[in-house]
Amino acid sequence: MAPVEASAAATAAAPAAPEKAPAAADQAEAPDGGLDAPVLLAEGLTKRFGDRTVVDGISLRVGVGEIVGFLGPNGAGKSTSIAMLTGALRPDAGTVRVAGVDLAAEPRRAKRLIGVVPQEIALYPSLTARQNLRFFAGAYRLPAGLRRERIAWALDVVDLADRADDRVSAYSGGMQRRVNIAAALLHRPRLLFMDEPTVGVDAQSRNQIFEAVLRLRDELGMAVVYTSHYMPEVERLCDRFVVVDGGRVLAAGTHRELLRPLGEGLLEWAPTGAELARLPDGLEGLAARLARHGDLQVLPPSAGDGPATLRLRAGRMSDALHEVAQIAADHGIGLGGIRLGRPDLESLFLTLTGRHVRDGA
Ligand SMILES: Nc1ncnc2c1ncn2[C@@H]1O[C@H](COP(=O)(O)OP(=O)(O)OP(=O)(O)O)[C@@H](O)[C@H]1O
Ligand SMILES: [Mg+2]
Repeated sequence: MAPVEASAAATAAAPAAPEKAPAAADQAEAPDGGLDAPVLLAEGLTKRFGDRTVVDGISLRVGVGEIVGFLGPNGAGKSTSIAMLTGALRPDAGTVRVAGVDLAAEPRRAKRLIGVVPQEIALYPSLTARQNLRFFAGAYRLPAGLRRERIAWALDVVDLADRADDRVSAYSGGMQRRVNIAAALLHRPRLLFMDEPTVGVDAQSRNQIFEAVLRLRDELGMAVVYTSHYMPEVERLCDRFVVVDGGRVLAAGTHRELLRPLGEGLLEWAPTGAELARLPDGLEGLAARLARHGDLQVLPPSAGDGPATLRLRAGRMSDALHEVAQIAADHGIGLGGIRLGRPDLESLFLTLTGRHVRDGA
């Protein structure tokens, strides 16, 4: 994980006030052109660092009240994209419109509609949660008359009202994370970016974070762009997904749309070296026979596996299983190295990128 240039609160120790604090007013107040207009419309976002293009033409559309999972392995370009989408980093190319407001042309107006929960926690540990939120309310120039009420509301959303006057240094990682989320809510943004909000968070806090996201969507129609490495988590929470790697969008759609091309099911076979030796045509022959039943990947071995893992997205699982059983019976091979599964986001990831979502870059 690498720091993102100019990300407003990416330095963990000292929470910096946003340089150009958006003057916060009440929610709404945007020329969004009707209910169907997207709350976020980004096109062709590109960022180069030196001669490396780390975000390479990403486009993104988020509707009102939509929770979008922004997924990719380490170094995929998620945080850099978020920094550009939130006005913390200037893109080399591309445009961002927030509820119809052009971020480059009217940054203050656009930023007023956005909340950002940064990947790194940025709070004053020696202050209480409420004092931290007062700091942020001031930094965001929330009108004085609204501050008390908004701070109480944000604390309630993240379920910290009863601990609000304890010092943040006494909080668990999960509680600190929730204060960080509360800070991003004070001006009631239309669109909330959450960059890995559950890393290092205990199960209870994680559930409270999910509840908060759903409440914001249901009560305020807030849209959320949610970044995470935990696939089961985003499968539960998000309406739609955008999968990125190498700074590009590899796939986008609903769960059903994304998983449809994966076929009926997945069959993984990691035969041992001794098992392969019994096959007249070895790994190649085995791969050729399985490939008749769908799309086959030959993955390099991971720890504990045999020489390779054959990964089949089967068109008809029953036919594939029949073939596998036949091969095993003909050559006296055991079936212990076989795993069956339904397609899920993790398997989509492996299919698209050839690596697990949690592998390093
Ligand atoms: N300020 C910078 N200068 C140079 N390279 C950078 C800078 N910020 C990010 N990068 C590089 O850009 C690539 C994308 O980084 P980014 O932080 O956007 O990835 P990410 O998808 O958020 O990863 P993670 O899951 O680890 O948070 C990485 O290879 C990173 O090293
Ligand atoms: Mg990141």
